[in-house]
Amino acid sequence: MIHVDLTGAAPFFGAHTPDYAAAEAAHRTLSEKTGAGSDFLGWTELPRRIRETELARILAAGKTIREKGDALVVVGIGGSYLGARAAYELIGRREGGAELLFAGNGLSAATLRDTIEKLGDRDFCVNVVSKSGTTLEPALGFRVFRDLLIKKYGEEEANSRIFATTDARRGALKSEADAAGWESFVVPDDVGGRYSVLSAVGLLPLCATGIDIQKILTVAEETFASLGERSEANPCWQYAAARQALYKSGKAVEILACYEPRFRMMAEWWKQLYGESEGKNGLGIFPASVEYNADLHSMGQYIQEGPRHLMETVVSFASLPGGYTVPADAHDGDGLNYLAGHDFNEIAAIARAAVKTAHIEGGVPNLAIEVTDMAETGFAELVCFFELACGISGYMEGVNPFDQPGVEAYKKNMFALLGKPGYEEMGEELRKRLR
Ligand code: PA5
Repeated sequence: MIHVDLTGAAPFFGAHTPDYAAAEAAHRTLSEKTGAGSDFLGWTELPRRIRETELARILAAGKTIREKGDALVVVGIGGSYLGARAAYELIGRREGGAELLFAGNGLSAATLRDTIEKLGDRDFCVNVVSKSGTTLEPALGFRVFRDLLIKKYGEEEANSRIFATTDARRGALKSEADAAGWESFVVPDDVGGRYSVLSAVGLLPLCATGIDIQKILTVAEETFASLGERSEANPCWQYAAARQALYKSGKAVEILACYEPRFRMMAEWWKQLYGESEGKNGLGIFPASVEYNADLHSMGQYIQEGPRHLMETVVSFASLPGGYTVPADAHDGDGLNYLAGHDFNEIAAIARAAVKTAHIEGGVPNLAIEVTDMAETGFAELVCFFELACGISGYMEGVNPFDQPGVEAYKKNMFALLGKPGYEEMGEELRKRLR
């Protein structure tokens, strides 16, 4: 169940009300594959497709990883790791499942050392994920963890502990995987990194943790089907149309807020999804995130009284894991006995209502999204909802929501400055400019 509540945004629509006709047209463009980037719409079919292709091998590999040790190092960056990490932190590792450690998402030596230390002398496997197979950060990270595997187990056993998720045919990683005999999974040609969590990219590591990926796929298939509805009751239309209306009214920053810290990496996944999809051609809502209640005591000031270019989208869950009751205190020295016997979940819900009212009064439109839970069902709902709404919203904005030409600029400069063969002239030029 996905529910969008726009009552906290309605007072701010002004001259720009949600344009449902535009949402309908964008949805049609997407489903009929007639818009820009239509070669990258395979994500809408992933839950069905994966059952017909790799699901059995993913389930078997997840079991092998759990049997071989209690840790899996997931090496990838951007869309090649954020979805798995988001689900892992939201849902949590199941009993008997492997712990996930993440590497290759930066070049920090301190973080690399911390991860190796955290791994300790435990038995582990590695899942290297890169669609292109050439991204520097994960390629370097993989080199390190592959080296550790070989030193610990020898080359043959190391090869049986490496699982590669990459392009079906191209790239350095694919060639290495074929040569070394690593079990390989596919990032489909028609699925971009940030839309790939329901492929082997997300499913293999999640399966290794014991998370029920079959349930995720079942709910995702049902959710995509229900979000196909062509009416103003479609939550994707509501969200996409509302945020585009607010953007036209000058609300250029969207803050994704949640009162559950386990949502933190979901917000990172969402930021990539919306930032890469919509931030182009000089356009796009800037996606930011906060973690409440903690950030009410830091960013809360800015949200309440800073420039009025913000909209706030709050994610909540219809059902939360077990609560905790505030104990009574015989002395009541802290004066909190008025809350004794109340549940933390109940107090948090009241705090949420208080914040909503304050922020709306402060001039920040509020969009509320509720999903079922912080488990497999809620995760699948969030993924389908945000992905489809992003495609619709991007088309409403008039951009191609499925490319990311801007991320190439830094890569070229970095390769040139690092002295990658083929980039010599550019490196020379850049060094002159930096002198
Ligand atoms: O969404 C995207 O396309 C990017 O975030 C990529 O996933 C990221 O740059 C990693 O690329 P690759 O999987 O080719 O290593």
